Amino acid sequence: MLKILFAPLQGYTTGIYRKAHAEIFGGVDAYYAPFLRIENGKPREKDLRDLETSNPQHSNSEKQTYAKTVPQIIANSVDEFKVLTDALIAKGHTEIDFNMGCPFPMQVNRHRGSGLLSDTQTVQAIMDEIKKMSSTANGTAPIKFSVKMRLGQYSPDEAFALLPILNETPLVQITLHPRLGKQQYKGAIDFKSFEKFYSECRHPLVYNGDISSVSQICEMEKSYPKLTGVMIGRGLLARPSLAAEYKAGNANKAENANTKDVRKNGAISESEFTNKLLQMHQIIFEHACKTYQGDSQILSHVQSFWEYLEPSIPKKIFKKIKKAGKLSEYQEAIIELRGQS
Ligand SMILES: Cc1cc2nc3c(=O)[nH]c(=O)nc-3n(C[C@H](O)[C@H](O)[C@H](O)COP(=O)(O)O)c2cc1C
Repeated sequence: MLKILFAPLQGYTTGIYRKAHAEIFGGVDAYYAPFLRIENGKPREKDLRDLETSNPQHSNSEKQTYAKTVPQIIANSVDEFKVLTDALIAKGHTEIDFNMGCPFPMQVNRHRGSGLLSDTQTVQAIMDEIKKMSSTANGTAPIKFSVKMRLGQYSPDEAFALLPILNETPLVQITLHPRLGKQQYKGAIDFKSFEKFYSECRHPLVYNGDISSVSQICEMEKSYPKLTGVMIGRGLLARPSLAAEYKAGNANKAENANTKDVRKNGAISESEFTNKLLQMHQIIFEHACKTYQGDSQILSHVQSFWEYLEPSIPKKIFKKIKKAGKLSEYQEAIIELRGQS
C-alpha cells in the first residue's frame, strides 16, 4: 500500500485545516506544511505560529488526534537554509522538507523553489549542510531531511544534473512533481522524465501531481512498484475523504480476499461525506471566529475551505458561500447545506 501524504498549499492547508482533516477524515500518513520563509531577515512569525496549531509537541493524549506534520522551508542559500532550520529545531522539529519546486515568480525570481534547480553549486552547498545536520558527529541530535522538487525551471536536464548530488545526500525521501516551473500547475505531466528519475533515484520516491481518485492511486501503485507514496494536494482539498477511501479499499480487499464478495473500494456515501465535511468545517469555522475579528477577516479564512469543493456540493449553495459578504449570509448557506445531508 502506498503512503498518502497531504501536499502543502499555502493559504489552504493551514494548521487548523490539517488538524481538522486528521480528526474527521484521516487516512493521511503525513501532512506537509506550507513553506516557512525569510521575511525581513527573519523566519516569518506567522508561518511559525501556524505550525504550532498542528505541531506534534503536545501532551500524549492530544497527540493521538494530530497526524504527523512535516514543516517545509524554502531558501536560496546556505545562510537562509541555516536560519530557517535553526528556527524549526528550536521549536522541537526533527524532520524538515526542503522546497525546490515552488514556481511562483515571487520566489523563483529570488532564486528559491524551482528557481534554485539550475544552480548545482548552491544545491550542493545546501546538501552538504544536510549531511552535517543528519549526523550525530557534531554532538547535536540528527535531523531528517526530505526534498520536494520539480524536473526543472526550464528543462528536465536540471533535475538530472542534480540527481547524483541528491543521491549522495542522506535524504528520507524525494517528492517529484514532474512538471517544469514555467508550467506552474497546468499542462502535460512529463511521465517519461518521471520514469527516468524513478529508475535513477536511490532514495524512496514519492509522486506528486494531478491525483484526484482512488483508481489513479491504485494505477500508480501498479505501474511503479518501487514508489513509496503519493503526495496529493488539490485532489484531497476537493475530496477530503480520498486518503481514507483508498486505505479502506485496501482493508476491504484484504478482508475479503478469499470470498467472492470483493468490494471494489472503500467509498463513503454522499450523505456521510457531506456530514463529515460539515464537521470539519465547524472546527475551522470556530477557530476562525476565535482567532479573527470582523466579518470580512473571518470570511476570508473560512471561504477558502470551499474553493476546491465546488464539484462536491450543490452549485447553488457553493455560489451563496462564495458570494457571502456578511457572516449571517454565510451561515445561512451552511445551514442550507446541513439540510441536504
Ligand atoms: C495555491 C498553492 C499553494 C501551494 N503552496 C505550496 C507550498 O507552500 N509548498 C509546496 O511545496 N508546494 C506548494 N504548492 C504545490 C502543491 O504542494 C502541489 O505540489 C501541487 O498542487 C501539485 O499537486 P496536486 O496536483 O496534487 O495539487 C502549492 C500549490 C498551490 C496551487
